[in-house]
Amino acid sequence: MAAAAPDLMSTIVSLCKRKGFIFQSSEIYGGLNSCWDYGPLGVELKRNVKDAWWRSVVTNRRDVVGLDASILMHPKVWEASGHLAGFSDPLVDCKKCKERFRADHLENLEKCPNPKCGGELTEVRKFNLMFKTFMGAVEDQTATVYMRPETAQGIFVNFLNVQHASRLKPPFGIAQIGKSFRNEITPGNFTFRTREFEQMEIEFFVPPAEDAKWYEYWRDARLKWYSDYGIKREKLRLRDHEKDELAHYAKGCVDVEYLFPFGWSELEGVANRTDYDLKQHSQFSGKNLAYFDEETKQHYYPYVIEPSAGADRATLAFLIDAYDVEGEGKDERTVLRFHPALAPIKAAVLPLVKRDGMPEMAENIYRDLLDNSIKSFYDHTASIGRRYARQDEAGTPFCITVDGQSTEDQTVTVRERDSREQYRVAAGGVVELISKKMKESMK
Ligand code: GAP
Repeated sequence: MAAAAPDLMSTIVSLCKRKGFIFQSSEIYGGLNSCWDYGPLGVELKRNVKDAWWRSVVTNRRDVVGLDASILMHPKVWEASGHLAGFSDPLVDCKKCKERFRADHLENLEKCPNPKCGGELTEVRKFNLMFKTFMGAVEDQTATVYMRPETAQGIFVNFLNVQHASRLKPPFGIAQIGKSFRNEITPGNFTFRTREFEQMEIEFFVPPAEDAKWYEYWRDARLKWYSDYGIKREKLRLRDHEKDELAHYAKGCVDVEYLFPFGWSELEGVANRTDYDLKQHSQFSGKNLAYFDEETKQHYYPYVIEPSAGADRATLAFLIDAYDVEGEGKDERTVLRFHPALAPIKAAVLPLVKRDGMPEMAENIYRDLLDNSIKSFYDHTASIGRRYARQDEAGTPFCITVDGQSTEDQTVTVRERDSREQYRVAAGGVVELISKKMKESMK
């Protein structure tokens, strides 16, 4: 039986630890709040999520190019972007239990919301979410630098570098995947809100008159991406920001939301950032970042449509959505129904017993899969039923079993994860079959 919604998160968290998807950071020292480490299956899953995103927004398109900017940037970047002055949350502390809360999440600003405490709260203070550090040997004001709170600014400051080097004309985009850091007051819900996380951002530069068209385009394209990679459509929705929610630079913003076990929450935001960032950086740097249109012989600041996603949040949503428990009693099984392109392991090779030439034949198939860059796993321990169950829980779409018949007629059994359907194929055709199935799943 599947776990009820409130328990689902704790079930997912323990499955993640047991199977090696995600561990608490620095666990042997008691853990570090809101930091998480991806284990062998988790790192494959997250990498596949990032690869799927990159393929869809960079590799398979003619109008988007990539960038990998540094995390530490000139401190003036954050003055120009508005982060130094405005990237803050209102904060209160409980004078009794010392817990810290976001003031905008509380109904009563007088009393600690923890029912066991009820202590008096401090005045509301602004708390800047950027992490500070020092560059070089001197730890003073002049050496202060910030860990970037979004990857976007690395794209804006490189706008003309990329445009000149790639000779693209608006509409075109620059995409980037990278770590961002925010000293969140209330991190939580596992990897949903953390202080160190990875973003997948596109800044798509358009002629100002085309902003509405491209805003709609990216809103629909990004929603579709999540359902193309297996998230149930009824668990996805678009939510337009209210006027008072909009960032000061945004003309419009829509969130792609997923129905997490803790409620509808943001997976990704698609914003119309107007020409705010290019103009700000032009003003603060003294370098004109306007685009020169060769046809009209005029300079203009493109508008920016920004689809901004979180790699960790997307990975969590794909994990939760894939989780399924089916059957009853001894037939019950837990299965992660990942889209094959996202599955950490594509195929498991299982010799039925450890004798009669089966391990040797299985080893050859395993080697062949690895040589063809198909991430696979070899398992010869425990009963075949137990081994299938392990692979179902890891989300492996295909199991290849080498049995007594295999050594006689050079065929093997393929078992499909979702349907549990089994069929025989020639051992020499396994790589081709898995490659074909993988290719089909990406369409
Ligand atoms: N450049 C725009 C920007 O950064 P955002 O809505 O603050 O916009 C974009 O962040 C995405 O980054 C979010 O939709 C979410 O997926 C991810 N994200 C933001 N803060 C996060 C956090 N503390 N932990 C995990 N992911 C986060």
